[in-house]
Amino acid sequence: MRIVILGSGRGSNAEAILKAQVAGQLGKGKVVAIISDVPNAGILSLGSRFGVPAKWVDASPFKTKLEGEGEVRYIEAVRAYSPDLVVLAGFMRVVKPAFLMAFHKQIINLHPSLLPLFPGLDGIGQALRSGNKETGCTVHFVTAAVDGGPILEQAHVSIDAAETLESLSLKMHAAEHSLLPRVIARLSTEGYK
Ligand code: GAR
Repeated sequence: MRIVILGSGRGSNAEAILKAQVAGQLGKGKVVAIISDVPNAGILSLGSRFGVPAKWVDASPFKTKLEGEGEVRYIEAVRAYSPDLVVLAGFMRVVKPAFLMAFHKQIINLHPSLLPLFPGLDGIGQALRSGNKETGCTVHFVTAAVDGGPILEQAHVSIDAAETLESLSLKMHAAEHSLLPRVIARLSTEGYK
């Protein structure tokens, strides 16, 4: 199962996927490319570390969504790697119908909350401010409904009395780093199309 990872940030989840692959824990999954919309994003440095093509692709003209010329560039760039699965690992743009159609039922996203709770930006902060005693992370199929596609799996994380954004973020990332590779491994062996 050929995997293209899209991300905008430091890439700790992409790193977790690649480490799982190296450890033989990614099922039939194989990361074939990493693409970022942020020129100097940490996620791009994983390319040389893990021997995977990694490149910036211009997503302009919009800042928070993938549409117009940027969307066309992304469809071409991702298609060039013939992926079976496109993983949004901290890709901070809303993907639109043309991209969704190009990779129909092949795109999954990691979101830092127990969806349908706290969609959108700052899922960790939203959960902390809610006063809830628990949050978590979700891996779901991407559809036109932002953060609303069918849920594949969730991991739960407690919010303790003295929790801070820093401490909760640490726990969340640990949960994400085990959830996302596990879901990918499962999809690669069980199938999903
Ligand atoms: C992760 O916490 C992921 O859940 C979140 O971005 C972070 C990326 O971290 N995604 C979203 O908020 C999507 N709306 P990383 O670059 O270290 O993997």
